[in-house]
Formats: sequence, structure tokens, C-alpha cells
Amino acid sequence: MSDQDGSSLNKIEQLDKEHVFGTWSYQSEVQPTQIIDSDGVRFTDADGQEFIDFSGQLMCSNLGHSAEHVTEAISDQADETPYVAPNFTTEARARLGEKLAEVTPGNLSKTFFSTSGTEAVEAAIKIAKFYTGKDKIISRYRSYHGATYGSISVTGDPRRLAAEPGIPGAIKAPDPYAYGSTMDPMESLDYIDEMLMLEGDTVAAILVEPIVGSNGILVPPEEYLPRLKEIAHDHGALLICDEVMAGFGRTGEWFGSDVFGVQPDIMTMAKGLTGAYQPLGATIVTPEIAEHFEDNMLTHGHTYAGHPIACAAGLATIETYQEQNLIERASDIGDYLTDQLDDLATAHPSIGDTRGVGLFQGIELSKRSDERVPFGEREDKLAKGGTVVDEVAQTAYEEGAYVANMINTLIIAPPLTITEAEIDEAIDALDYALEVSDAAMED
Ligand SMILES: Cc1ncc(COP(=O)(O)O)c(C=O)c1O
Repeated sequence: MSDQDGSSLNKIEQLDKEHVFGTWSYQSEVQPTQIIDSDGVRFTDADGQEFIDFSGQLMCSNLGHSAEHVTEAISDQADETPYVAPNFTTEARARLGEKLAEVTPGNLSKTFFSTSGTEAVEAAIKIAKFYTGKDKIISRYRSYHGATYGSISVTGDPRRLAAEPGIPGAIKAPDPYAYGSTMDPMESLDYIDEMLMLEGDTVAAILVEPIVGSNGILVPPEEYLPRLKEIAHDHGALLICDEVMAGFGRTGEWFGSDVFGVQPDIMTMAKGLTGAYQPLGATIVTPEIAEHFEDNMLTHGHTYAGHPIACAAGLATIETYQEQNLIERASDIGDYLTDQLDDLATAHPSIGDTRGVGLFQGIELSKRSDERVPFGEREDKLAKGGTVVDEVAQTAYEEGAYVANMINTLIIAPPLTITEAEIDEAIDALDYALEVSDAAMED
């Protein structure tokens, strides 16, 4: 749609561009697209064009866009008691706490509620420091843990650079990245072991995404996470698993940690916790950690900690996963998706690697088929202008499939309700779009 001034933005998009900051962007490059409707796994723009949501928006719309049980729970809670201060409780908050103790691994049992993944990580960092009395957090370079000062300091990806030097004690380790990496994933554990030894008894926790999300869908070897937990504990440090993106069924298990049979000491959640119907973050801990705060003050809180409407949405979301068997479904339909991605990789020489678990998959591009030469580099994340990976995503979008991309990887994370036919539609759009990267390969 075009306005009289020749702008491709409609009135609402123009208003938005003028008055609202775009996230992680040069504002001159922001081109807001107005969305006017969404239903199932699809959404519709102001021109009436429909798109398959092949990334569940920001890898968070796990239930798709018309989960009635959740919207009813939100509306009922808004009618009954939309808000009370965190020193009161509601049935929604108490029952969601109980539910999280049920679905999270092992004996994780007590939750701090916030309003985002970022805040869930902030709480985890503070809890680990308060509990252990130690100051340092080891995290990894290929990671994203949030936007605020603490969570961006423990983030490894280039978005952290603008906030550096960040909080004291945020130390980075190498990652379990097989494709094109200089270090074997299991060798990287020896490195972390040595880091802990050399830091002395000063590390509160190791913080990892069990399966790395926005930094490229990196799935470690099976023995990696169990061994990482052992290493942490050998050195008196906790293991924090950041499940903000991998959690709530995306992997075909409740949590990424479950894929490896590991119970972390602290776990962070958001996104799929409410299927993105409400902003809600959660940080759950073991009974031992919870016990510590019986007589040591938990010096942390927010006005909206345990917001009734968000908790009602969270409870209804988990009930929906359970009632519709969506976690098992993600595993089954994930196998179908994997097969389709394998076929795409055979057809397109610019696909360097496809990888993932369940409905949490990545397509990494390469300019050469004989070695890894990425189209998008880490520093491109901070540069103006687009990469070939952005062009591929844009072409897929024009063909009707919305696919998020980060640095050099297209991220496939659709609602867990997606059907095989809908996967086929989105794969067709990608098949067309990948011609762009095929044509841009080096000879
Ligand atoms: C693993 C992980 N942790 C934390 C965050 C931050 O969550 P939020 O954007 O809800 O603050 C994200 C967001 O993508 C994430 O993927």
C-alpha cells in the first residue's frame, strides 16, 4: 500500500515509525508492518496478505494465534481481579507455581515470577549470587540471555558489545558448536573445567541455553549437558539452564534440559510459558536454594511480579499443552519437518547445515559447499544494511512464509499446532527463497 507522499508505509505504520522505537535497529532502517489479524498458524497484514508463521513470531507463539482456552482465561481473570500487588496472591499465581513444579525437571519447586525472559535471567543471576555468596557467572559466546544490563553482560552475542564492560564477573566460555567451529564441543568442556579451576572458588554459576536458540540452534552432543553439570558442581558452582526459547515443547520435550536428562539448579522460562499471550517470565529453583531464602532476604521484586492475568494465561497455556498432547506432537511433527529440511539441503548448495530437535530447527547458509564461509558474520548483526540471509528471509516472506533469521541462520520454530500441509507450504516458500543464496555463492 502506498501513501500520497510515495512512502510504502500506510498511516498506522508511519505513525509507528515516527513515535515508537524499533528494537535492536538503526531507526532509519525500521520499516514497521502493520498486522491486523492472526488465526491458527497464520497472520495477516494491512494489505490482506496472509503469512504462515514459521518462526512463531519471536520463537514464542507455541500455541499459534487462536488458543481459546488461553484467551478465555485472560478475559475471566481480567473480569475477576486484573491486578493485585505481589504481597497478595491469586489462585492463578499459586496454581501456576504448582504446575511449574510439576512440569519442570526433577525437584525444581519454587518460582519467582517476572514479566520477560530478560527478567527471568536477571533473577537467576541474583539468586545464584545470593545463594552461593560468589560473584562470577560463566556463560558462552554464542548465546543470548536478555537486554538489560545484567542479562546483556552474560550474553555472548554481538549485541552485548554496546553495553560493555557490563556487570563485573561476567566471563565467557566457548560453545559446543560443531559446524565450522575451531573447537570440538566436548573439548570445549575441558576448557570450561580449566576456567573454573583457574578462577578459584569465585564462580556462582554456569549459565547456558541447553540448546542455543537465536545464536544458531546449536544442539550439543548428548553427553555435553550432563558433563557440564558435573563440572559446575565439582567446582561448587550452580548450573542455570536458560529455557526461555527452548522450553515448553519446542524440542518435543517439555524443556531443552529434558532432552539431555539434566535437572539444572535454576531454570529460566518465558516465551512459550504463555505461548506469548501475555508477558511472563519465571525463574524456578531447587528446594535447597529456596530454603536459603527462608532466613536470608530475597532482595528482588517487581510491581508486576506474579501478575494475575499473565499467570492465568500461563496456567491455561500449560493446560493446553497437556490436554492437546502438544509436546509429543512437536516430536512427531518435528520428524516430518527434519525430513523436509534434509530435502531442502540436498536441493540447495548454499545450505551448509541443517540442525535442531523437534520444532526447533536452523538452516545455516554457506557461500561455499566445500567449506563453511558464512553469508552473515557476527559483526553484521551490528552493521547497517542487510545480508544475503536477510534477502532469503525477505523473499520467503514475499512468498507467504515468515522466517526469522539471525546472523547466518534461518530459525524454524513454528507453533506446535502446525500441520504437515502447512509445513509443506512454508517449505515451498523457502525452496523458492533459497535460490537467492544459491545464486550468491562463490564459485
Ligand atoms: C534464551 C533466551 N534468554 C533470554 C531471552 C530474553 O527474553 P525476553 O526477550 O523475553 O526478555 C531470550 C529472548 O529471545 C532468549 O532467547
